[in-house]
Amino acid sequence: MSYETLYRKYRSRTFGELIGQRATMLALQGAIASGRVAHAYLFSGTRGTGKTTSARLLAKAVNCLERPPGASEPCNACASCEAINRGAALDLIEIDAASNRGIDEIRELRERVNLAPAMGRSKVYIIDEAHMLTTEAFNALLKTLEEPPAHVVFILCTTDPQKVPLTVLGRCQHFTFRRIGEEQIVRHLAAMAEAEGAAADPEALQLVARVAQGSMRDAIGLLDQLIPAAGGTITAPLVRDLLGVADPVRLEALVAALNSGDASAVLRILEELYESGAELRLIVRGVMETVRGRLVAALEAGDQPARRRLSAVLRELLVLDGEVRRHAEPRFLTEATLVRIAAGDLVEAAEPGIQPPPGPAGPAAPGRPAASPEPVSGPDASPAQPRSVSAATPGGGQLAAWETAMAGLSPLERGYFQRTTVERGETGYVVTFRYNFHHGRAILIRDKVLAALAAADPGVTSLDLRLAAVDARPAPAASPEQHPVVLEASRRLEATITRVEKVQR
Ligand SMILES: Nc1ncnc2c1ncn2[C@@H]1O[C@H](COP(=O)(O)OP(=O)(O)OP(=O)(O)O)[C@@H](O)[C@H]1O
Ligand SMILES: [Mg+2]
Ligand SMILES: [Zn+2]
Repeated sequence: MSYETLYRKYRSRTFGELIGQRATMLALQGAIASGRVAHAYLFSGTRGTGKTTSARLLAKAVNCLERPPGASEPCNACASCEAINRGAALDLIEIDAASNRGIDEIRELRERVNLAPAMGRSKVYIIDEAHMLTTEAFNALLKTLEEPPAHVVFILCTTDPQKVPLTVLGRCQHFTFRRIGEEQIVRHLAAMAEAEGAAADPEALQLVARVAQGSMRDAIGLLDQLIPAAGGTITAPLVRDLLGVADPVRLEALVAALNSGDASAVLRILEELYESGAELRLIVRGVMETVRGRLVAALEAGDQPARRRLSAVLRELLVLDGEVRRHAEPRFLTEATLVRIAAGDLVEAAEPGIQPPPGPAGPAAPGRPAASPEPVSGPDASPAQPRSVSAATPGGGQLAAWETAMAGLSPLERGYFQRTTVERGETGYVVTFRYNFHHGRAILIRDKVLAALAAADPGVTSLDLRLAAVDARPAPAASPEQHPVVLEASRRLEATITRVEKVQR
C-alpha cells in the first residue's frame, strides 16, 4: 500500500479551501469570473504558503469545462479538472526551473507555445522556482512574454522575486503570498488531525505552528510525522521531543542564569536541554524570544540600563542564531557565546553601528558550482570533520552510494534532501541545504543516512550537513545594503531593502 502524505491528501482543490492569502484569492477569482485572466503572473513569497497550489488552481479553473459563466471555482469533476488533479493534463505544463535551470524546457516551450490547447481554453505554463532560470532561459521566456499567443497563461512561482529580471517582472501581474498566521495553521492542523482520527492537544499544535514559521507545508509535514509517532494523543512533550523544541520552563531558567551572570548554571542548563534532545537552533531561538520579551518589558517600564543590556544580548544572540544555522554541530560556539553573555562581556554596541558577525571569509572550496551559495563557517565553530572537499559530478559514479542511501528513505525524508548540493569529499559526503527547515530535519536522521551510505560504500565515514549561507560574507567594501545584519534582517522579515540609513542616537 502506498502511503499518501497529508499535504498531498489535503491539497486544496478549490480557492475557498486555501488558507490566508485572501486578497490574492479574491483578485484571482475576480479575474477568472470576469474572464480577464492575464497572460503572465508572478506568485512570490514564503515557501509552503500555496504558490504552486494556487497556480494549479488557476490552471484548473481557467480550463474547467463545466464552470458556469461568472463562477471562479473549478468543478473538480470534468475531464479537464480530473486530468489536472491526476497530474496528467496536456494543457498544464509544469517546468521546474531548479532541476536543470530551465534551458531545455524554455527552448521547447518556445517551439510549442503556438500550438493550440488540447482540451481546455488555455495552455497554462507553471514555471516553479522561477528565480533559478538562467539568463539565457529568462531571455527566451521574455521573447514569448513580449508577444504571448492568446491561449497561453504563464505563472512564475518563486521564493526569491529579487532574482527575476525586471524586464520579466514588468510583464507579470505580481501577487505576494504571505506567511500563514499561527492561529490559522493551528486550526487547519486540528481539522486535519480530526479527519485522520488523531487526537491532538492544542498546545502541541501551537508548538508545531511555531516551528513551521508560517509555512503550511512544513506544518503539515510535521503533523505527518507526529500522527504515527504519537500512537494516541499528540501532546506538547511529544512534539518537543520529536522536533527538538526546548522546554519553556528550562529556557526561562537559562535566561535567568544569563541575566544573573551565573555562567556555570548557563552551561548546566544548556547541557540538560541538549541532552533532552532539544535542537541547538531552537534553543537559541527560544532564548532570543525570551530575551525579546524581557526587552519589550524593559522598554515599557522605561528601564534604560536593562534596555541597553538586553539589546546588546539580543544583538549577540542574533549573530549566534545566524551562525548556528550554518552548522551541523555548533555546540561549542553556543556555549562560548552564552558564557560570554553571562560574564557580561558584551560588545556593548559601538552605537549606532552594528557589529558584523565574527569570522573571516573562508576561502571558497575549489570546484564548487558557482550557482550554489557558499557554506560559511566561523573559526570557533568548525565541526571536527575534515573540510577539504573535492567536487563530484553527479552521474560520475561517485554519488552512487548517495543514490542508494536516498532510495532507502521514506518519501518525506527524501524530500529534505531534494534541494541540496551533494558532494563526495575525502571521507564522506558534504550536503549543503538551501532550507533551514530541511537542514534541521535532516540532522535528526543523520545517523541513519550515514549508516546507509557506509553500507553502500565502505569508504564513507562522515556526513557533513551544512546550511548554505545567505550572502553572508560580502566583500569588505560592500555597500550598507550588503551588510550581513541588513541582509539577515531583510531575509527574516521578507522585506525589500529600499534604503539603509545610519541612525544617530
Ligand atoms: N495557504 C494554504 N492553505 C492550505 N494549504 C496550504 C497552503 N499553502 C500550502 N498548503 C499546503 O502545503 C502544500 C504545499 O504548498 P505549495 O506547494 O502550494 O507551496 P509553495 O508556496 O509553492 O511552496 P514552495 O515555495 O516551497 O514551492 C499544499 O499541497 C497544501 O497541502
Ligand atoms: Mg511551489
Ligand atoms: Zn472542471
